[in-house]
Amino acid sequence: DTDTDTNPGEKKQLVVATSPDFPPFESLDGSDIVGIEPKLMQAIADKLGMELVWEQVDFDSIIPGIQAGRYDAGVAGISITADRLKNCDFSDPYFLANQVIVVNPGSDIQSKADLTGKTIAVQTGTTAETYCLDNGYEILSFASNIDAQAALTSGKADAWVVDNEVAVKMAGEQNLTVLDEAMTSEPYALAFAKGSDLVDQVNQALSQLLQDGTVEQIFQEYDTVYVSPL
Ligand code: ARG
Repeated sequence: DTDTDTNPGEKKQLVVATSPDFPPFESLDGSDIVGIEPKLMQAIADKLGMELVWEQVDFDSIIPGIQAGRYDAGVAGISITADRLKNCDFSDPYFLANQVIVVNPGSDIQSKADLTGKTIAVQTGTTAETYCLDNGYEILSFASNIDAQAALTSGKADAWVVDNEVAVKMAGEQNLTVLDEAMTSEPYALAFAKGSDLVDQVNQALSQLLQDGTVEQIFQEYDTVYVSPL
């Protein structure tokens, strides 16, 4: 009877929470979590000599779960915000995104000026939700980003606000229109518990992967133009 916890050959686990409703960053292929960030996270775990363990949760449970010690890290296209910095630490940023408006073909919404008085689908707990609330727009919030998109296609919502690369990827599959207006500027980073010593280790691995072109190459594999946050 061997005690696996003290097996010296065994890698330390890195428990990572994600919300795989956000292609090309993370989505489900059967029961596998695939995309740019799972690839990036695997490359980081390899450098750290750790074994990745994925936990699949709603986006708005990621940071609370990290705070509660259920996960070591969160990777989910998480934008660094001042509010979140009160509850978690972030790695260095690795990508720059923005929020865009997605509409059905033929919509009378052509820019953010047209959003007033309309119903906008967003994912709960995201910067899209915060952006819409701060601007006084009427929102419908969904735990899953897939459901936010479905509210637009079914006509329950007049628009869907979401991160630009996700909009392009998911709208392309559904024949939706992505408006050409960047409403915010948001660096993505990995989230950790406040004071976690993983932050430094991950930053070292990340900086190597940024410098040697691995990060850019991962984005290329997913047909996504790499935008440096620096
Ligand atoms: N970047 C946005 C935010 O930080 C949206 C992230 C949503 N991620 C996801 N995997 N559904 O709020």
